[in-house]
Amino acid sequence: MGREYKNIVILISGSGSNMAALARAAEREDWAGTVGARIAAVISNRADSTGLALARELGLPTALVPHKDYDSREAFDAALMAAIDAHSPALVVLAGFMRILTPGFVAHYAGRLVNIHPSLLPAFTGLNTHQRAIDAGCKVAGATVHHVTADLDHGPILAQAVVPVLPGDTADTLAARVLSQEHRIYPQAVRELLDTL
Ligand code: GAR
Repeated sequence: MGREYKNIVILISGSGSNMAALARAAEREDWAGTVGARIAAVISNRADSTGLALARELGLPTALVPHKDYDSREAFDAALMAAIDAHSPALVVLAGFMRILTPGFVAHYAGRLVNIHPSLLPAFTGLNTHQRAIDAGCKVAGATVHHVTADLDHGPILAQAVVPVLPGDTADTLAARVLSQEHRIYPQAVRELLDTL
């Protein structure tokens, strides 16, 4: 019989840079050997997400579940759950997955569903976090890794990183500064969590 791994399924919608950071950390730190975990699949809801091609380049199995093919959120989430559960995941990792999930989906993965959000939660839930932080005159910004609960962007916090907001920052320059920290804290938080599973 083959070895049983803690399977990680990563959900993306866009460029997949956090997914790639997770994949590279898993390789570099030998998550298979050290925490018995492996990335079993990367699933996107968008055919045009460049992260899917990146995942294939990294040698990861990929799947596409296009939300546009379903007439309701419930129907999409049911299809997504089927694609995820095919891998019996220990952990489902949202990495720039830009869909609001149904309460049924969140309940199904309770305790094994995590997200990264580009703000210092509980400040700036939702979208356009960087412009909103600049408009509010914030001196610091950052990112938060958290458990996902039914309350959008409000689950228990696992890790945060803080960066300065600099004079002349635009949403893009601030996003880039935050993203480089996301790539550091997300793999670290996921690895620590896997250790407890
Ligand atoms: C990241 O900044 C992530 O925090 C954010 O989307 C970006 C995805 O980048 N997530 C959210 O806004 C979730 N509401 P990536 O695709 O390159 O990882």
